[in-house]
Amino acid sequence: MAPVNPVRVTERAQKLATEILRPGDLAVDGTAGKGRDTACLAQAVGPTGHVLAFDIQPEAIASTRNLLESAGLSERVSLHLRSHADLADVLTPAQFGKLGAAIFNLGYLPGGNPDIITQPASTDRALRSAYAGLRPAGRLICVAYTGHPGGAEESDVVLKFAEAQAAAGLHVEKIGYYPTLGKPWILVVNKPST
Ligand SMILES: C[S@@+](CC[C@H](N)C(=O)[O-])C[C@H]1O[C@@H](n2cnc3c(N)ncnc32)[C@H](O)[C@@H]1O
Repeated sequence: MAPVNPVRVTERAQKLATEILRPGDLAVDGTAGKGRDTACLAQAVGPTGHVLAFDIQPEAIASTRNLLESAGLSERVSLHLRSHADLADVLTPAQFGKLGAAIFNLGYLPGGNPDIITQPASTDRALRSAYAGLRPAGRLICVAYTGHPGGAEESDVVLKFAEAQAAAGLHVEKIGYYPTLGKPWILVVNKPST
């Protein structure tokens, strides 16, 4: 039997976002990086929608800007050279509670400095703000990595956040891949529709 091509975790995460987004929606990319997730969200929300994308590295914001320009998507995106921990300060009162989806792809910039990584405390704060900012039936997606130094500790924080949301009665999914050791996993939190 021919081996099955594994679905890339990032593509799976993107699909989880795009399947819920509608034209005209507002979306957040908490970690813009190379801009691939931002561009994907921008496609999904269409010309009447908008994406807020965050990254703390100028290099990442520049890569994202280039990708969006070459794809003709710049008009749909606001780029924030700022920590995703500030999400609640960036969202206007009119935007709060209107997010269709928020995606976080944690860790470090591919091809960039592997020492600049997302951090447990700011990630926790950002996930809480993103969930609070979702519209009814909106979705929070977070890809957590355990294979780099600091990744396991951050992954534990994401897991605790997930467990707290589940304990509060929310629909929470954890998507993992075998063998699990050192592998990324995806958290999905769905906001109730009413
Ligand atoms: C795995 S990359 C993101 C990949 C990206 N989503 C893409 O599609 O190319 C993680 C990114 O998180 C960024 N980052 C680290 N700490 C951050 C923070 N506090 N707020 C926002 N971005 C942060 C890093 O600079 C890095 O670019």
